[in-house]
Amino acid sequence: MSLREVLIDELRDLYSAENQLVKSLPKVVKAVESTELKQILTQHLEQTKEHVTRLRTAFEHLGKKPTGKHCKGMEGAIDEVKEALEEDEEGALYDAGIIGAAARVEHYEIAGYSVAILIANTLGETEIAGLLKQTLAEEQNAGKLVMSTAKGILKQAYAAEGDDKKVPEKKAKDAKEKKSEADSVKDESEAAQEINQPAEQSVEEVPAKKSSSKKK
Ligand SMILES: [Fe+2]
Repeated sequence: MSLREVLIDELRDLYSAENQLVKSLPKVVKAVESTELKQILTQHLEQTKEHVTRLRTAFEHLGKKPTGKHCKGMEGAIDEVKEALEEDEEGALYDAGIIGAAARVEHYEIAGYSVAILIANTLGETEIAGLLKQTLAEEQNAGKLVMSTAKGILKQAYAAEGDDKKVPEKKAKDAKEKKSEADSVKDESEAAQEINQPAEQSVEEVPAKKSSSKKK
């Protein structure tokens, strides 16, 4: 594989990521409750469409087609946003649950563009690097805007907690949540062997029979 092919691969990954976002962002815009966050995400949706166009231009320049690789990382990041959208909360507390997933999406893109720019510059593809830099600046700005709005939302969410004296009903976990929990325990015990310390396993839902992490 040549470095040029690595660049094409990275750009195809980003192209898929941007297209996935164009599909998903409208649902997020609709769901969030904060007007400010809605505005930021709406503006970023328009920018994201522009990011798709810029990548197409980069591919024209390279004489290659932009499709060919599905970005699994962005699929996962978007899945986490979708999970947050399903939460049974209201107002600032609902938005608070979405912020982390939304920030991850932005930072995933920032990482991808940063590396693609490095590769393009190494290859002397300054025109492509220039296009990617414009997008990177917009991603960074969107990330910052989400973070500064987050501050206000989190304060509101925390204040709202005090008003709400009722104890939240404990919902039964669905199959997806159960699998997620089981996988997280598996991650922990496998990592614990590497870290050389016992896994915590102190959560009440964890069955006592787990034996994969030996205490030393
Ligand atoms: Fe983007």
